[in-house]
Amino acid sequence: MRMRNKQRKTTILGWNAGSRCSMPTLIWSLVGFLLLLHFYSTLHKTDKVEETQLQMSHPSFQELQVVEEENIQIPPPRGRRSPRAAKRRPKKKTTLIDEFLDENSPIRHVFFPDRRSAVDPTKDTGNDSSYYFPGRMWLDTEGNPIQAHGGGIMYDPRSRMYYWYGEYKDGPTFIAPKGIARVDIIGVSCYSSKNLWTWRNEGIVLAAEEANETHDLHKSNVLERPKVIYNEKTGKYVMWMHIDDANYTKAAVGVAISDYPTGPFDYVFSKQPHGFESRDMTIFKDDDGMAYLVYSSEDNSELHIGPLTEDYLDVTPVMKKILVGQHREAPALFKHDETYYMITSGCTGWAPNEALAHAAESIMGPWETVGNPCIGGSKMFKLTTFFAQGTFVLPLAGLPASFIFMADRWNPADLRDSRYVWLPLIVGGPADWPLEYNFGFPSWSRVSIYWHRKWRLPSGWSDIKR
Ligand code: DGJ
Repeated sequence: MRMRNKQRKTTILGWNAGSRCSMPTLIWSLVGFLLLLHFYSTLHKTDKVEETQLQMSHPSFQELQVVEEENIQIPPPRGRRSPRAAKRRPKKKTTLIDEFLDENSPIRHVFFPDRRSAVDPTKDTGNDSSYYFPGRMWLDTEGNPIQAHGGGIMYDPRSRMYYWYGEYKDGPTFIAPKGIARVDIIGVSCYSSKNLWTWRNEGIVLAAEEANETHDLHKSNVLERPKVIYNEKTGKYVMWMHIDDANYTKAAVGVAISDYPTGPFDYVFSKQPHGFESRDMTIFKDDDGMAYLVYSSEDNSELHIGPLTEDYLDVTPVMKKILVGQHREAPALFKHDETYYMITSGCTGWAPNEALAHAAESIMGPWETVGNPCIGGSKMFKLTTFFAQGTFVLPLAGLPASFIFMADRWNPADLRDSRYVWLPLIVGGPADWPLEYNFGFPSWSRVSIYWHRKWRLPSGWSDIKR
């Protein structure tokens, strides 16, 4: 007897919807397709890894990855330590961090060498020309110490210049009522350079308010971590910064705007983004022109990330909480090979602590922690981010996978004398904690920051066309 089956229809794929063997066939085809897709993406990833390995074997990369070791001896125990050092773990054995925080330490010069060893582009520095000396004083083209702490760098293709913005801290250090060391706001400084080594002082581009005590920029408040990006649509340079009162209870972001990279910037307003506390922060401009704010929130226990409006003057209502419960601050975000990376610090005031690298496929997360990026120096150098705290990661145009990690070696006894620790950062190789796997291949590459007592960018780097 012929079975009637009016419902059976042939689909456009030629698959008979009622057939008993059709469902497994479809599932197997799908599995096959997915396997092929993964095989392709794995191959693609392997190609990328090999490409990066090839670049990393180039002599200029190898020079950046030379690891230098340090063997700093802790001096024998002595009388009373400075209160700042004594307050920390009074009963435990003295560590190098205690020595670092003790302004009377006999090895103070190791962390804060004096002016005689300053990097001075106004003098004939002979063989040391173009070399970075992390931790040494660094002078501008007028012979004055560069004052651009907690800063960041913007490359401006219009003027073909790098602009370094930071906190101008050249005043006395006070202790605020809650015991935190601070300086009065003087303003945001700007320095310009073509080669990232010789810096010309362009002056204070956003100045403190002297008279109006209710103004965010009144000198008695706090202005930290200024960052500037350019908005192609409006033709404006937009600055975001951490705005606070002397006791860090306001916890807000401030925004300023200018027609020129060298200012003057007009202060627009401050707010708590998305209605949340915001302390250490950064902004990041993606390749597609979208910009994002990242800030430490909820008592610094988590970071928040969200896109800025098209004009970069505000946040949008979209926000994601990331690294929740991890207590990270000083975020510095960068991108390599369609992956987003971020370096953060722990939360120990001005005292140094361990940096961590994080990675994400989408900027809005999820973000994963991939390990401590610091290599070389010593165990203590690794655990203290080379006695410094990150502030920005600058891509080195023309040198794939290469960046400069910019950090501040804070001097809480005299904040104006805080130093800069710039080191090469390279993305490549397998991560230490590759939590995420993609068919046996870790999704993230290692982020490595190499300690150097002295180092320079590969020769001819500044002539590379951007
Ligand atoms: C750590 C932050 O990263 C710095 O910017 C500054 O706010 C200090 N804390 C203040 O203690």
